[in-house]
Amino acid sequence: MFPKNVIAIDGPAASGKSTVAQKVADKLNGFYVSTGNMYRAITLFLMQSKLDLNSEATPEKIDSLLKKLDLSFSKTADGKLSMTINGATADGAIRSPEVAKYVSRIAAMENIRNWLIDRQRNLSKLGLIIMEGRDIGTVIFPDAKYKFFITASPEVRARRRLAQSGETPEGSTVASVAKEIAERDEMDSKRKIAPLKKADDAIFIDTSEMTVEEVVNHIASFVKETPII
Ligand code: CDP
Repeated sequence: MFPKNVIAIDGPAASGKSTVAQKVADKLNGFYVSTGNMYRAITLFLMQSKLDLNSEATPEKIDSLLKKLDLSFSKTADGKLSMTINGATADGAIRSPEVAKYVSRIAAMENIRNWLIDRQRNLSKLGLIIMEGRDIGTVIFPDAKYKFFITASPEVRARRRLAQSGETPEGSTVASVAKEIAERDEMDSKRKIAPLKKADDAIFIDTSEMTVEEVVNHIASFVKETPII
């Protein structure tokens, strides 16, 4: 592990982590990694493998399908990381409502998390990484030098999610989106393995009343005041 190179950002669904983490990465010249997108990519791959996620998602079936999955990252010309699923660049399909419906169930499975853990840790060999998810500060990089836990009120989160086109079903309302993210948060917080949880030493930021810029500056200035190396 290379924990000095890691800025860990955790928090519940639609809290604004990914927008903030991407901008922090740009500001500090690091690589942004969304671990949620990795769980979503696996979920999409399983759906495309014609596995019925309601009735057939046994650890055995999933193990045998994971053997056929290559989830890789490569550096792009503009200095970012691009994720590929069996050679194809991951696109908006991983952020679809259909994938969101199943992802938390898939992410609760031990064999899925075990399959990802070294893949996630190895990314820190690339340099400074800003990794966001649910268990980055607690499980993936418990020794990360910088840890943040970002949240916002349920209503603000629902509004933020609604503003992200293609991520909510047609006809969604603030109330329907709030319900969907509350269900996912509950599943993510109550699961046995690597639940959504603030690390004891993470800095808590409630972004309900903050602009993206304010949150980014808060994190970046904290990091700059306590240099990485
Ligand atoms: O963007 P949003 O906040 O909706 O979620 P995401 O970061 O894309 O994560 C999707 C789902 O993946 C979460 O609801 C969790 O079930 C799972 N996840 C996880 O279990 N552990 C992580 N480190 C990241 C995501």
